[in-house]
Amino acid sequence: SSKKIIIAIDGMSSCGKSTIAKQLAQQLNYIYVDSGAMYRAITLYFLRNNIDIANTTQVKDALQEIELDFRFNEQSEQVEIFLNDENVEYLIREMIVAEKVSEVAALADVRAYAVSQQQKMGGKKGVIMDGRDIGTVVFPHAELKLFMVADNAIRVERRFKELYQKNPNITIEEVAHNIEMRDYIDANREISPLRKAKDAIEIDNTNLTPDEQLQKVLNLANSVLS
Ligand code: CDP
Ligand code: CDP
Repeated sequence: SSKKIIIAIDGMSSCGKSTIAKQLAQQLNYIYVDSGAMYRAITLYFLRNNIDIANTTQVKDALQEIELDFRFNEQSEQVEIFLNDENVEYLIREMIVAEKVSEVAALADVRAYAVSQQQKMGGKKGVIMDGRDIGTVVFPHAELKLFMVADNAIRVERRFKELYQKNPNITIEEVAHNIEMRDYIDANREISPLRKAKDAIEIDNTNLTPDEQLQKVLNLANSVLS
């Protein structure tokens, strides 16, 4: 189909958002934007520069110094995020960033900065974006909205497996605590809390393999596209 739409994917941490987003982007030949990577990269910058997040002037000034962009890596065939021309795709996945990102993402100035860039990226359609507020705030008119869910224990197990490959010192308790803390902050913050949009379709992938989940979502996408 030549029709191009916006697909918004939201949900709690580690519920399979980026997995389905990447699968769909490949199948539909769309651009995938990982909005969480933007909040993580901003957090990395704040950590490196000792930004006091309680100090609005410091936060505003720091944001002025941050340039984010997504570039396609031909080798990994993945889109990777650059912070001021440095590839930080792997650094931002580390626990030190995960521990601070939800506090940073709750700040009004940070959200305004990220959301305006995200909305520009959606201007040409043919975009799949995942995050917490994509269907509610960034693209309230997205043609297809998905809300991913999976049981807590399975989310912790999946994320632990992922992180353990890179850091065998990590414990499952640490991962469980981080996910629980971020889910709480993300769902309870004042600005753009994590919510299922009224018109979002909920997909529970607790018992679905990535292939099964792709089939299900492709059917939904095709019905919107036809
Ligand atoms: O991969 P995971 O689901 O664990 O997290 P992520 O998508 O990389 O997002 C990291 C953090 O960024 C979240 O815990 C939120 O605090 C924040 N975030 C947000 O506030 N709004 C978004 N649209 C995306 C992420
Ligand atoms: O983007 P988000 O944080 O929501 O989650 P993800 O990174 O897509 O998924 C977290 C982990 O769960 C990844 O290692 C996926 O491969 C895995 N996963 C899975 O095992 N089965 C699914 N149906 C979806 C994701």
